[in-house]
Amino acid sequence: MSDAETVISRRQFCTGACSATLLSLFAGCGSSSSSPSSSASAAVKLAVLSGTFTGSALNVTVTNSALATVGGAALVESNAGNFLLSRTSANAFSAVEAVCTHEGCEITGVDGAEYVCPCHGSRYDRNGHVLAGPAKASLRQYPSSFAGDVVTIPL
Ligand code: FES
Repeated sequence: MSDAETVISRRQFCTGACSATLLSLFAGCGSSSSSPSSSASAAVKLAVLSGTFTGSALNVTVTNSALATVGGAALVESNAGNFLLSRTSANAFSAVEAVCTHEGCEITGVDGAEYVCPCHGSRYDRNGHVLAGPAKASLRQYPSSFAGDVVTIPL
């Protein structure tokens, strides 16, 4: 065997070995609990709104937003934390914490009337109750009031 043939053989060996290693790594990732599930990929991103924290309550203006109509939902970001807010009737809203109870990912997805965690696909109803795991515990729910197109969530 010549030196040229030996070099080619080593390259071929390394290419094959690296491919096998990468394939086994990706195969391992496919079954990992940290991979996004197909349940999560069915969701779309929630609209994002900014809330104003007054020191004791979070105020969210709903005019011309995803919350302007009944059934609408949004991720509300604020310096007091992030919340999922949905409009349940003309004058009522449901507010829950946006932190998934499984491993703490922020819930950013929605699929119809269900909130969907992007990390492992846990699903919650608009009141934060678990519809599908791996999460087992409900999202923390907060009371809210509505007046003058502003939702107020006491914190
Ligand atoms: S962090 Fe795992 S499902 Fe949300």
